[in-house]
Amino acid sequence: MQQPLRIGIAGLGTVAKGVLDILSTQRDLLTLRAGRPLEVVAVASRRAKPDVDLYGAPFSTDVQTLVGNNRVDVLVELIGGVDTAADLVVGALSAHQHVVTANKALIAARGDELINLARKNNICLNFEASVAGGVPVISALARSLAANKVHWLAGIINGTSNFILTAMTNEGRAFEDVLAQAQQLGYAEADPTFDVEGIDAAHKLSILAAIAFDMNIRFDAVYTEGITAIRPEDLEYARELGYRIKHLGIARQTDQGVEMRVHPTLVPEDNMLAKADGVMNALLVNGDATGPTLYYGAGAGERPTASAVVADLIDIARGNQSVARPGHGRPQMLNISDIVSAYYLRIPSLDRSGVFAKVATILSNNGISIEAVIQRERAAKKVDDQTRVPIIILTHEVAESVLDAALMEVQKLPEVYDTIARIRVEHLT
Ligand code: HSE
Repeated sequence: MQQPLRIGIAGLGTVAKGVLDILSTQRDLLTLRAGRPLEVVAVASRRAKPDVDLYGAPFSTDVQTLVGNNRVDVLVELIGGVDTAADLVVGALSAHQHVVTANKALIAARGDELINLARKNNICLNFEASVAGGVPVISALARSLAANKVHWLAGIINGTSNFILTAMTNEGRAFEDVLAQAQQLGYAEADPTFDVEGIDAAHKLSILAAIAFDMNIRFDAVYTEGITAIRPEDLEYARELGYRIKHLGIARQTDQGVEMRVHPTLVPEDNMLAKADGVMNALLVNGDATGPTLYYGAGAGERPTASAVVADLIDIARGNQSVARPGHGRPQMLNISDIVSAYYLRIPSLDRSGVFAKVATILSNNGISIEAVIQRERAAKKVDDQTRVPIIILTHEVAESVLDAALMEVQKLPEVYDTIARIRVEHLT
């Protein structure tokens, strides 16, 4: 029997618990697959959690005891956050210990430096669990699709937001109620604003784009919107128009540069991304040789995320190199105003004759053509003796800067009493 791979786990949250469980309950199978035993020799976390089964592994409240510890071959970083985790990972890599992490915030912020350090020291830094939980998207991009020039990728990469939007759409439940459930289930980040404001998805998109486009990790260049401004009526109107609203991360290589954006998006109801509900993640990758390929599965949660961590450990036990390679380019990054998209607009308007004609004229004068319109009398509400009826418009594709200019004009109409809502529309073909 070969020497075991000796593992030190930092952190004792949901994912750590799943890793400990899988390593123990699947011990024989994993030994067979890895070619040697995967043995947890130390667990460290600032706070002890007596209810988590450590399966006999020694425990410390000082995570630094794992760094440079010559009994630990691989440090599994599961403490989250950036600064302390970075110290830990830099320490381990500098001490020639392999590192496996599920920490997307860390990789988004410091990934280039860490990947380079690992490469310099000829050791592994693996982070499959950092994106899409149990769905092997990093491995797919870095290995299985390596023959392709990737034109674009787009996907649902935050399980919590998808869980919330799905329950709001299908069950009419309130945002706060569903968020509380996602927290209970261990899907949400320690700070759930990272989920619902799109920051978590932006972390993940910057990692995926760097691998797909062979570039540096550019979290700073991701345009980010969350789901907090989505109203139940938008979900209903989208459905009426034949779409679903999904929170997408989109990265595209164009002749002008690279666009990276995270925002709620209308997706045609027959598109596969529209059908990924609940905590499921789904990623479409369009390669020049493969055409579109789809990756689908649980994007968060104890066992799915732990599955990816354990797969990274097996890879190291087998003696494979890191999955991700250092990025080497800083391509031109496009601003959100440079993108071209179709749009859903909800214009809060007073119910006066001629208002739609005014809106249509402004759009037309700006070269924006309309695909569909809804103005329903049954949506009318009387407030202070004035009747309000939203105008819902679906536009054809237009440059965002052109739409911005047109909406500034529409917003100034005396009948428009509140801020116009806009949601981008993607056909993903
Ligand atoms: N909070 C994240 C999500 C966890 O909801 O997708 C997995 O990265």
